Amino acid sequence: MAIRTLLAGVGAYLPERVVTNDDLALRVDTSDAWIRERTGIRQRHLAGPHETCAHMGAEAARGALRDAGAEPADVDAIILATSTPDQAFPATALRVQAELGVDRGFGFDLSAACSGFIYGLSVADALIRTGQARGVLVIGSEVYSRIMDWQDRGTCVLFGDGAGAVFLRPGGEAGRGILSTHLHAQGSLGDILYVDGSVGRHDRPGTLAMNGREVFRHAVVKLAQVVDQALKANGLERSAVDWLVPHQANLRIIDAVGRKLGLPPERVVVTVDRHANTSAASIPLALAEAATDGRIRRGDLVLMEALGGGLTWGSALVRY
Ligand code: UT7
Repeated sequence: MAIRTLLAGVGAYLPERVVTNDDLALRVDTSDAWIRERTGIRQRHLAGPHETCAHMGAEAARGALRDAGAEPADVDAIILATSTPDQAFPATALRVQAELGVDRGFGFDLSAACSGFIYGLSVADALIRTGQARGVLVIGSEVYSRIMDWQDRGTCVLFGDGAGAVFLRPGGEAGRGILSTHLHAQGSLGDILYVDGSVGRHDRPGTLAMNGREVFRHAVVKLAQVVDQALKANGLERSAVDWLVPHQANLRIIDAVGRKLGLPPERVVVTVDRHANTSAASIPLALAEAATDGRIRRGDLVLMEALGGGLTWGSALVRY
């Protein structure tokens, strides 16, 4: 039987500090009503000084290992998807490796903006199916608060900080595991969502710039295409999908993809209202929430999709 990659455990970390829309309205010319209406966001978590990309990533990874009943010694590889690493190098993945006490294997950071977790799942799946690694942590950890222009109301209200993780290992029983991943990119659209400047915890990094309307337009079209592509590749109908776990950028985009699939709203996992857009962390945070509270069960068909800076976009279809 072909090896399949199982999602053996999920974990999450959210910073302690919660910032509401009303809190932000004290800093920039915006309102709770505008933010809710246009995005569905009510609040976001913002990292304190000790809540680094590595710290949050390690906390989420610990949760994923615990959930899988695995030990740090079971980890062969760590893939950390982020656009906000703590340092240019070493890779934040290796800071996480050290925090977890993993003393072998390998790891690296992966830069694909909001699609980073989907890209990470795809790479991990290939590593596992080719036998290059058995236990792989895929982590999305982001500290977007450090790359915000806090004067720009068009972007600073949209993002939050946090981390989510999955622990993957070979399996394949009862058709469970990652069924497919599809990755896409279009570098010619790089200028509609980007960050100029360097990374780092202490100095002033670059800030995020976005043409929101353009990104929105591409998101609605490309996510609908990628969802169809995933189903077609697996010979499945839309009605087979139990759960949509989308990237959490905007409730209007999430609703559009859910409608396209004909899914009732209660089958779409939504965290954007409480987390805002946490980029590469948003899907594993949503997945961890819905798997931990018992909504997503073993054997359910889960479709994940994301689009972000690059542009990058993609999907992962998983029999949980
Ligand atoms: O995760 C990566 C992928 N990112 C995304 O998918 C984001 C995609 N884009 C979006 O979600 C939406 O385009 C936004 C939420 C960013 C913006 O929503 P929109 O409905 O496209 O609004 P808009 O940019 O067209 O702006 C409408 C109005 C403008 O005023 P005028 O020019 O019509 O007078 C803005 O200046 O809203 C104004 N505006 C605000 N008003 C109050 C923009 N930001 C704010 C704000 N508060 N925070």
